[in-house]
Amino acid sequence: RQEAQVAPIVDVPWVIAHRGASAYRPEHTLPAYELAVRQRADVLEPDLVPTSDGHLIARHENELSDSTDVADRAEFADRRTTKTIDGRQVTGWFSEDFTLTEVKRLRAVERLPDIRPRSARHDGKYEVATFEEVLDLRDDAARRTGRDIMVMPEIKHGAYFDSIGLDAEALLAEVLDERGLNHPDAPVAVQSFEPDSVRELGERVEVTLIQLIGSRQQHLTTPEALDEIATYADAIGPDLRWVLPIGDDGLPGEPTPLVSDAHDRGLLVTPWTLRSENAFLPAGYRKGDDPSAHGDHRGYYIEVLRTGVDGVFTDNPDHLYKARMHF
Ligand code: G3P
Ligand code: CA
Repeated sequence: RQEAQVAPIVDVPWVIAHRGASAYRPEHTLPAYELAVRQRADVLEPDLVPTSDGHLIARHENELSDSTDVADRAEFADRRTTKTIDGRQVTGWFSEDFTLTEVKRLRAVERLPDIRPRSARHDGKYEVATFEEVLDLRDDAARRTGRDIMVMPEIKHGAYFDSIGLDAEALLAEVLDERGLNHPDAPVAVQSFEPDSVRELGERVEVTLIQLIGSRQQHLTTPEALDEIATYADAIGPDLRWVLPIGDDGLPGEPTPLVSDAHDRGLLVTPWTLRSENAFLPAGYRKGDDPSAHGDHRGYYIEVLRTGVDGVFTDNPDHLYKARMHF
């Protein structure tokens, strides 16, 4: 987009707090975002889904039982249902069947309690946050710390919500309009895996636009696809495997040309997701290891930064921040 600008951020590559500091607190809760600020994240990432009364809430999925206590709540037992969402049959409790008042009665729980027992200790303590509360937290944190902090909301299941009369992109634009954040210098970048959703956002907002590229969307990494993406977006957010493939030995191989191909077309590159417990750890690290236990944060985190990316999504903002200091 010719007129597109990138919101001002001081430190690069950006430390993007994926669902907040989600390695340490139940994801997408205000304490998860607050901890991310304390861990010096530059960017807070809320995934967004709508409620029945048109509020955007910070959840990765509209099905709520993986990340809240809804399944244990007798008052909502009759809301359990099965739907087809993006071609997949899903059974559970769905944000679009709850008002915001009802959602606020739920409490967040850790989605991966076996992997993240430290976070699971906070189960049942925190509400589900709205997008507006995340923006309030950002404003407060930016004032308090004097730092630029950006918010990077992702619209989930945009086409599905359109099909049931909930226009998530319009709801997002409305919030940005109301708060005076719909302009190219606003500390906001919006993202989606669905090209149509990114294009619709481009018609509604003037902030930075990110085309996400999923593990099944390798076709969006070709030079021709990047030419097309550059006509409507400002950045790509690819699965890390499209930037730094993992070899048969489980270790990172040679970087692909994706970063330079994207940069040649004026697109920023912000891959996802660095987390300490993933399988892609450098020699000497084992799956499940916490890199901080090794006394340094170089290794895999630094190898990712060396590819020339403009930011990285991470569940561990503290580790990425330290890796950036060594980089
Ligand atoms: O938005 C970038 C990254 O978060 C995409 O993956 O599934 O965690 O939203 P997901
Ligand atoms: Ca996301």
